[in-house]
Amino acid sequence: MRDLPRARTIIEPFRIKSVEPIRFLAASERARVVQAAGYNLFKVPAQDVTFDLLTDSGTSAMSARQWAGIMIGDESYAGSPSFQRFEKVVQELTGMENVIPTHQGRSAEFLLMQALRLSKADMVIGNTHFDTTRANIEHSGAEAVDLPCTETKDTQSEAPFKGNIDLEALSECLEKNSSRVRLVILTATNNSVGGQPISMENIRSVRRILQPRGVPLFLDAARFAENAFFIKKRESGCQDRSVREIAREMFSLCDGVLMSAKKDAFGNIGGFLAIRDSGLADSVRSLMVITEGFPTYGGLAGRDLEALAIGLDEILDEDYLTYRLRSTEYFGEGIQAAGIRVIRPIGGHAVYIDAGATLPHIPWHQYPGQSLSVALYQHIGIRSVEVGSVMLGSRDPETGEERPAPRELVRLAMPRRVYTQSHVDYMIEMIGHLARHFDELRGYAFAYQAPVLRHFTARFTPL
Ligand code: F0G
Repeated sequence: MRDLPRARTIIEPFRIKSVEPIRFLAASERARVVQAAGYNLFKVPAQDVTFDLLTDSGTSAMSARQWAGIMIGDESYAGSPSFQRFEKVVQELTGMENVIPTHQGRSAEFLLMQALRLSKADMVIGNTHFDTTRANIEHSGAEAVDLPCTETKDTQSEAPFKGNIDLEALSECLEKNSSRVRLVILTATNNSVGGQPISMENIRSVRRILQPRGVPLFLDAARFAENAFFIKKRESGCQDRSVREIAREMFSLCDGVLMSAKKDAFGNIGGFLAIRDSGLADSVRSLMVITEGFPTYGGLAGRDLEALAIGLDEILDEDYLTYRLRSTEYFGEGIQAAGIRVIRPIGGHAVYIDAGATLPHIPWHQYPGQSLSVALYQHIGIRSVEVGSVMLGSRDPETGEERPAPRELVRLAMPRRVYTQSHVDYMIEMIGHLARHFDELRGYAFAYQAPVLRHFTARFTPL
């Protein structure tokens, strides 16, 4: 018999050995829960959530191999063999000699900015800095500048690499501020613009622009494998290369890597810095003893390092990445088919709903993203996160006037290897039902807000 055709259905490339029950509350019970939480989903107890799409960070399902690694984790204070295995995996992947574990991504950011001794006069440019990266740059005194490519302005265009940095704007900014720019960080994928990838060509061009000026280039590699797979799928000449090879080339163009290993290393906790310059690495090592611990464990247990070393290998499995990107896309397409506007193309780790366009009767200052995310929880049990004027807007401390964010989005982030296609089908079906009632949703007003990072602790009043 001839070979059968390839299946069109893309399946989860794993079977399930250990399960956790999901709890279903009645909509009336969820209404009470969310009211008690001040309509802030960060304050909802996780056991009252059916589908937790708040983040893909630290929420991955670990593999049997990772759990086995946990059992052989070595907890020596210094020079643990678990560190040695972790170090070797990161060195082989990044081609960088100095590997420094940290307890998560933002501590790597903190250490790097401090070790660079940034000050008010300095500037750090990025394709779009993630919030904690921006916060760490600003905490050091320096200015954080975002230069996303112009394609991001149209949320509906199908440009393949909307995560790119704007090369012209970068050159111009360097020209104007030649002595101020101390570092450029490319975030792959670009979380803040919808989980969009950067192209290899873009990274190469940034390298070419920076090299003669001696400005170092770092990669925020939180979702490097998703980015590398997008390159394989979309960039000409890359189809026949392995994702590992593509990832290695991405790293080869950089002077250092910052990574939150809670994403593309299947870790529940962890991060690292990989740095070519041994002098800079030594400054980080001497600083980190104060906050993270000895440089061979960096705030992590030996067993965490073991799980991360295995996760960094598993993440490059192309069957996994095929399933990962397709399942996120499938979710996005299903939501779109219900007549809801989402950021196009669908990103790697999350679907971003344009709540401003979806709930046009709610003005930005009544927070359409907040309204939609509360409704998704109350009526379906989905926990998402508002990425709009609640999270990114601000209040003028003098006048009390509210300022809007550029867009009113709701992010539905997919934890890795956690939910199955039938979970996704269920969510799509229920979102379709909810969509028929969108005109009944109302806005919210702040009842309480903290001066910084207000979205975590705010309370709201429904209007
Ligand atoms: N960089 C990127 C691109 C991120 O998305 C995150 C975290 C960090 C750095 C910080 O890493 O959490 O380990 O300290 N993003 C999470 C999210 C929180 O939900 O997108 P961390």
